[in-house]
Amino acid sequence: MSSERRLQRGERIVLASHNKGKLVEFRALLAESGIEIVSAAELGLAEPEETADSFEGNAAIKALAAAKATGLPALSDDSGFCVAALDGRPGVYSARWAGPDGNMTLAMQRVHDEMGASPDKKAAFVAVLCLAWPDGTTRFTEGRCEGEVCWPPRGDQGHGYDPIFVPQGDCRSFAELSSDEKNATSHRGRALTRFLQSCVTPDPV
Ligand code: IMP
Repeated sequence: MSSERRLQRGERIVLASHNKGKLVEFRALLAESGIEIVSAAELGLAEPEETADSFEGNAAIKALAAAKATGLPALSDDSGFCVAALDGRPGVYSARWAGPDGNMTLAMQRVHDEMGASPDKKAAFVAVLCLAWPDGTTRFTEGRCEGEVCWPPRGDQGHGYDPIFVPQGDCRSFAELSSDEKNATSHRGRALTRFLQSCVTPDPV
């Protein structure tokens, strides 16, 4: 069930994620909005299984589970790294390519190995946000950041596939940018800008 319902400034929401990197990014990106974030991990919520084959489907599973468990509006992000030469993979399987221990060295190596000598280095990070209310209503916003795969991995900031992604218009990898620089152009930053515009009630003028 989707709706036009909006969050009020100052409202408390659950971030339906156990990923510390994402929590830091969301808190920084939502700081101005006055929306207070408490994370699913801080509330001890179980992580639902991501069984959908799309970013939207998995974002809805996470946000609806957290909203129903807490009675609060819940925001989730499902995101991934989509490589053109791999027909968009790892995509929704980005976290799974790191194996049960979340080994990103392994995941980045697999991207490199599967790309082989392909001259097509194009890649994009994609993020879909889902805002869900306990009554089951949902709203979605999406953001993309286009760029290229680089090898070997570079930089020690950020998380996930950041060391092997160079955003369009830059020559540094995401892992070589400060968090402010990354947030200004990242898929999640763009999805959140759209989220603030369409899902949060603006301040009265
Ligand atoms: P999710 O938590 O199910 O959305 O999984 C997303 C996965 O995509 C993460 O575990 C990372 O591997 C990857 N990913 C998503 N966003 C980023 C990013 O900003 N930088 C690097 N990797 C990312």
